[in-house]
Amino acid sequence: MVVFTEKNVLSSHLSSLLKENKTIGLVPTMGALHQGHLSLIELSSKENDITVVSIFVNPTQFNNKEDLDKYPRTLDADIQKVETLNTSIIIYAPSVKDIYEETISSESFDYDGLELKMEGKHRIGHFDGVGTIVKKLFEIVNPSKAYFGEKDFQQLQIVKTLVKKHALPVEIIACPIYREKSGLAMSSRNERLSSESREKAAFIFKTLQRAKKLFATKSAKEVTKIVEEAFKKRKEFTLEYFEIADEETLNICKRKDKNKKYRGFIAVFIDNIRLIDTIVMN
Ligand code: PAF
Repeated sequence: MVVFTEKNVLSSHLSSLLKENKTIGLVPTMGALHQGHLSLIELSSKENDITVVSIFVNPTQFNNKEDLDKYPRTLDADIQKVETLNTSIIIYAPSVKDIYEETISSESFDYDGLELKMEGKHRIGHFDGVGTIVKKLFEIVNPSKAYFGEKDFQQLQIVKTLVKKHALPVEIIACPIYREKSGLAMSSRNERLSSESREKAAFIFKTLQRAKKLFATKSAKEVTKIVEEAFKKRKEFTLEYFEIADEETLNICKRKDKNKKYRGFIAVFIDNIRLIDTIVMN
């Protein structure tokens, strides 16, 4: 297992492999790897000659210092997990300085308004930070494919827009959400939940499933109200948002159109830890 910590060393290693016409898959992560990440890494290993897994807690995408400080950092355990999959995978675990050099700041991006909704509305600057790091990683690694989980569905649409607008030569592969037995979407942030809260957090996906059922006969507005009421009754949660939106534009569903695909999107706090999830509604 090779672990690179410097972008220049990684880039020159990869450029010699590219000269041999090898294909590179990139799995960008912030570490605290779980089964969801491992499934992306496995898929990339199947589809590419070389897989690079980046592990970097990107400061510019956090709008909350406490969230950044408390984000789990488990590099040794992450390396071991990747090693059990395939020892030829390359890990890139840079320092903040290696990525940002002297100035830790984001570029600003226009993602056709996708950045103004949901996560973007509640985490100001988040998607500028995501775009900045993803673009930098693409420049360093030069992947032909990059793998992103559907749990962060808005991020996925934003990365696809970034690639299109900047004509970046990389294919974005969307991968399904992995869930714990309880239905809770796997997330690095779950590591921070007490076992009691982790059990309680199963309510999030149960409510999304209920919302999906209700959406067959009720309007988006009615379903949204029911979800909001359900969370009001559960004092351990603070609901930040629940929205039913068009999968493509992320515009809120005002009137159902049978030609459109809708998703439910949720962000909720439990124990001061922010969790997000999403479900296909129709
Ligand atoms: O989804 C994540 O873990 C992060 O947003 C990403 C894509 C690795 C960028 O830091």
